[in-house]
Parts: sequence; C-alpha cells; structure tokens
Amino acid sequence: MIVYLNGRFISKEEATISPDDRGFLFADGVYEVIHSYKGRLFRAEDHLDRMKRSLRELRIKAPDMASFKEISEKLIQDNTLRNGDANVYIQITRGAAFIRKHAFPPEETPLTIYACASPVEPPHEKWEKGSSIILTPDIRWARCDIKSVALLANVMACQQAKENGADEAVFVRDGVITEGSHTNFSAIFDGQLVTAPKSNYILPGVTRKVVLDLCPELGIPVKEFPIFEADLKHADECMLLGTTAEVMPVVQVDGWQVGNGSPGEVTMKLLRAFRELT
Ligand SMILES: Cc1ncc(COP(=O)(O)O)c(C=O)c1O
Repeated sequence: MIVYLNGRFISKEEATISPDDRGFLFADGVYEVIHSYKGRLFRAEDHLDRMKRSLRELRIKAPDMASFKEISEKLIQDNTLRNGDANVYIQITRGAAFIRKHAFPPEETPLTIYACASPVEPPHEKWEKGSSIILTPDIRWARCDIKSVALLANVMACQQAKENGADEAVFVRDGVITEGSHTNFSAIFDGQLVTAPKSNYILPGVTRKVVLDLCPELGIPVKEFPIFEADLKHADECMLLGTTAEVMPVVQVDGWQVGNGSPGEVTMKLLRAFRELT
C-alpha cells in the first residue's frame, strides 16, 4: 500500500509518525474522507472546503488544499483502486513539538500531513434490507461541526451499536436527535424530509448537502428542523446520510420497527437519485 506522508509517496510500512505528534498526544488535528467512484472523486471540493474550515476553526494554518485532489488521485492510481469504490482518508495534525505542552507549539512547527486510499465494499445488502440504529446520549463536545480526529465518544457509541447488533449509533442531546457516530440523520414525516439544522452540534455533511439539493428536483419538501426523540415513532421513514452509507434506509430504532419495517419509498428514491450522481 502506497501512502502519502509529509510530501512523499511511500509504502505504508515506511510511514512513521513521531510519538511527539500532537495528533497522537492531544487528538490535535482534523481529517476528511472522500469517496472515489471508479477513480472519480465525489464532491472533493466540498470535502476540502470543509477541511479548510475545520483547520481555521482550530487555528491550524491550512496547507495548499487544492493539492489534495492530485494527491488523492495519485493514491487511487498507485494502489490500483480505479476500478471500484475507494475512500481517500486525509489527516492533518498540528505537528510534533519536542515537549508535551497543551498550548500550541512554535509557529514554524511543520504540520503532519497524511493520506491513504483503501477499497470500499458498497453496502448493497443494507441498502436493500435496511439498517438498524440505537439511540445514545450525545456526550460529545460543543464543536461537532469541526471534523476533528478526537472521536472517542463516536467510537464508544459505534461500539455500543455493534454490541447491540445495530449498524449505527445516533446521538440524542437534550431530547433532540443530532446525528450518527459517522453519519447525519434524517426522517420523513408526512412526505417531508426533516433533518437537524446546521449548528455546532452536527457535522455539516457533504452527503446531507447533496441530498438537500436533490430534494426539490424530486419534489420532496424539506425542513431543516430539530427532530425530537419523542416524535421519532411517528416518522414514516428514517435514513442515515454519509460518505460510505450514502442514503441508508433505517428500519429499526432501538429494536422497534420504523414504518412497515422495510426501506421507505422516499429514502429509496433519494438513494437512486444519489447513486446517479456518482
Ligand atoms: C459525525 C459525523 N456526522 C456526519 C457525517 C457525514 O458526513 P459526510 O456526508 O460528509 O460523510 C460524518 C462522516 O464521517 C460524521 O463523522
């Protein structure tokens, strides 16, 4: 496997990162995941714009973001991933400072920039049969709009889902559904698509944006409005939105059945329309 590290394309075995790296010590960094469909990057600009924003919010000086398109394409090419689906992972940390101190290291400290590409198996069976979720308290910090590598609450929630035989954990904060551990959440009420409005409590998902743009073309009314946990049982359909999940029907929440227990009509219409864009 060929990876990119600090300006060089090298084998993964050769790639080493300092134990002083602030990503390792403090989770002081950001990341992005860009999907490649048969060698074509999907919405790379949106992902790179979001990464630039995440860096700005954390006061990490952004490198040349446009270069990541070329880097991603080369990783896909060099790892012979042009024939199928793949994900490109990019991570930038505030770099390695010699002494562990919370405050920022000296200005001239080079960032650590890492990227790799790996194959992805599209979740055809889950799209067909639907997925299951659990609801779990949102114990994350109040800057979930930053795509930070500090993902411990997401990791714990996702593991909790797995141990309960579910596919994703969806967070609830003060009775309101925020988002999944690695997806945005949306539901259909009386034909209308409802999803949490953009705020510091959710990541502004690229898939969410694509879906919101698709809705008017498909005649689906949209409401960016909080979904209360207490109202979820009245939803006709539920879905997860994310780079790998795309538009994923949800047919079970905490063991109870959504709608008639099979993927919803509006959800599948959105999934088909989304797939046509890829
Ligand atoms: C917490 C969280 N919310 C939402 C998303 C969905 O974002 P996107 O559609 O850009 O993949 C992700 C993706 O990783 C995520 O980690």
